[in-house]
Amino acid sequence: MSTPAPYDQRIAWFHQARFGLFVHWGLYSVLERGEWAFFRERIPVAEYEALADQFTGEAFDADALVRLAVASGQRYAVLTTRHHDGFCLWDSAVTDFTSVKRAAKRDFVREFVDACRRHGVEVGLYISNKDWRQPGYWDPDRHPESARRMVDELHAMVAELLTNYGEIKLLWFDGAWIDVGRCGKRDIPAFWRSEELLKTIYGLQPNILVNNRLGVLADLDTPEQRVVASDKGRGWEACMTIGDESAWGYCSHNPVRKTTGQLLRHLVHAVSGEGNFILNVGPRGDGSIPEEDALVLREMGEWLAVHGEAVYGTTAFPIESTWYTQGRCTRRGNTVYLHLLRYSAPEVVIPLLAKPPAAARLLTTGQSLGIEQRSNHRVVLTGLPALPPHPEMVVIALEFNEEPEVVVEQDHAAWLTGLA
Ligand code: GLC
Repeated sequence: MSTPAPYDQRIAWFHQARFGLFVHWGLYSVLERGEWAFFRERIPVAEYEALADQFTGEAFDADALVRLAVASGQRYAVLTTRHHDGFCLWDSAVTDFTSVKRAAKRDFVREFVDACRRHGVEVGLYISNKDWRQPGYWDPDRHPESARRMVDELHAMVAELLTNYGEIKLLWFDGAWIDVGRCGKRDIPAFWRSEELLKTIYGLQPNILVNNRLGVLADLDTPEQRVVASDKGRGWEACMTIGDESAWGYCSHNPVRKTTGQLLRHLVHAVSGEGNFILNVGPRGDGSIPEEDALVLREMGEWLAVHGEAVYGTTAFPIESTWYTQGRCTRRGNTVYLHLLRYSAPEVVIPLLAKPPAAARLLTTGQSLGIEQRSNHRVVLTGLPALPPHPEMVVIALEFNEEPEVVVEQDHAAWLTGLA
């Protein structure tokens, strides 16, 4: 009952999807200073909890949010059902501190899940292990009862989310760490009873993927604010904010922002290492989506509408590491895609391809390119237009008649004489 389906089977959709939407939204969004304000500013619990009387979510439109994900080329979405502040966006029987029992009177998780299903977007749910309101989180030795309650509540809430909302594809834990400085060294999985929780999860949803933030490895690695590939075969997902990296929840002032071009490079970097990229938006307290975030996401979607075949469901193609500074590669069957980080015209040179492709075309415009071969197994693509045909990133598709292969250099100096 508690054994998950085989890993390859469970992760197949995730590898197809490649790009997801992360949504950080909760009481903290009302404060407009990021999702850590409660703790960072040491706001007393009663004062913080009172925010639930202001949190009505009058502009939260799950359908619009999910349509934005679709327009952005994102194939799955993950909502913070409960962040570290303990406030639940669903109708939990475990606590009264929920959007249903307080001012909003709405089950936002239900709305989100339903909207995802309407638009064919896979559903992911984020839940924080901890609840900052519990003294037992901060000092489990002094408050063992509270610590126990916090862990029991987490288990019960996870069971609710995985029982009452249909099929959940991805469960995103966060915040299992215990402050070693304050509490001494702890056995994290023992503290959260993580193995037991995992069994419950796989028992309820045998096809689910669970991230690695429960203190156990589970199914997916989650490099944060950077793109770092895991070992081959292991699923991973880089998560990132559009704005400043210290805030996932809405901030009224957050002027340093990544551009569409930068974000596309992060996406392609992840995909070229067989990983996923999940990009965050932090809706305002009322639930509306900041227009500047929506704009960047839509621009990514416009690029993906043309170049999606070079992203979704592709695998890695290991090209010579020095070429890596110019572009990233992905592969689907006998097609290799070159994502040009920097455009060059009229030629693009790729060294150390064992055999030249049979055809090359600009995926960006459909134009076919000339192919020449030079020494050192260089394939030279010719006839590229003088100006980049796309302002953000140009992609070239190389069609091979057989398995594309790279030359593995035996003598690392041979290229000097053109004999590589
Ligand atoms: C961190 C933060 C948190 C954010 C998360 C996203 O662990 O505590 O606020 O939700 O990363 O990856």
